[in-house]
Amino acid sequence: MKIVVIGGTGLIGSKLVSKLREHGHEAVAAAPNTGVNTITGEGLAEVLKGASVAVDVTNSPDWDDAAALKFFETSTRNLLTYEAAAGVGRHVALSVVGTDWLSESGFFRAKIAQERLIKKSSVPYTIVEATQFFEFIKGIADSSMVGDKVHLPPVLFQPMAADDVASAVAEIAVTPPVNGNVEIGGPEQFRLDELVRRRLATLKDPREVIADPKALYFGAKLSEKTLVPGNNARLGETRFETWLNQSAATVHAA
Ligand SMILES: NC(=O)c1ccc[n+]([C@@H]2O[C@H](COP(=O)([O-])OP(=O)(O)OC[C@H]3O[C@@H](n4cnc5c(N)ncnc54)[C@H](OP(=O)(O)O)[C@@H]3O)[C@@H](O)[C@H]2O)c1
Repeated sequence: MKIVVIGGTGLIGSKLVSKLREHGHEAVAAAPNTGVNTITGEGLAEVLKGASVAVDVTNSPDWDDAAALKFFETSTRNLLTYEAAAGVGRHVALSVVGTDWLSESGFFRAKIAQERLIKKSSVPYTIVEATQFFEFIKGIADSSMVGDKVHLPPVLFQPMAADDVASAVAEIAVTPPVNGNVEIGGPEQFRLDELVRRRLATLKDPREVIADPKALYFGAKLSEKTLVPGNNARLGETRFETWLNQSAATVHAA
């Protein structure tokens, strides 16, 4: 089966392409440096020719509110238009658990817009909402600075390894579309502030992490369960401690 991975050079995309190829599929990595650009439309018609599935694991290069919204709206609209024209059988996209509840955040308004465009399109689809990647935990600290300290609400948090995200998306890409959302998450629950504190300690990052119930997450208020998936979520196997002991933890820390 020909499966085009849009954003196939990124963290999840590159793992996904390898996993699909290991299972004997013709997986094509599409990104600006392979001549495919979802914003300009360059290369989209050619790469989607003969594809059964398109998987969208792109991300906006700029997370500023307006830039992220423009990226996800333009990219998703172009992609779905070219997929419909090429007769691609299904669209699989990676989003974030809790997206619907995070509309106070500019970045999440962009993900909401992406999900809405997919739901309105004529292309059959599955939207995979994942919890935060272990690889992203330092990024959460970086975006939660108040002065020289990290402020985070002590809410429930159930992150997962990028490798498990890619495995789940690879399986979902080759199964019939559900025309709805499916959730994936990690095998363990933590408190957000607690895990960020642990991650920074392993990186020997001296920043103090404050449990602050009023702190925002990318501009949005969180409730106790916003970041955790529902009971039907498919859970990854990799535990945080196991991931920490793998070299990937240090490679992606920068
Ligand atoms: N971070 C998390 O914890 C988390 C949790 C759940 C879901 N997600 C979602 O997972 C998705 C993938 O995240 P990631 O960390 O794997 O992203 P990433 O490593 O930043 O990769 C993004 C990919 O998109 C490509 N791209 C950027 N602009 C493009 C364009 N105009 N046309 C085509 N491709 C373009 C990039 O190509 P270049 O490298 O060539 O620019 C790269 O291949 C995102 O949509 C994100 O919202 C993230």
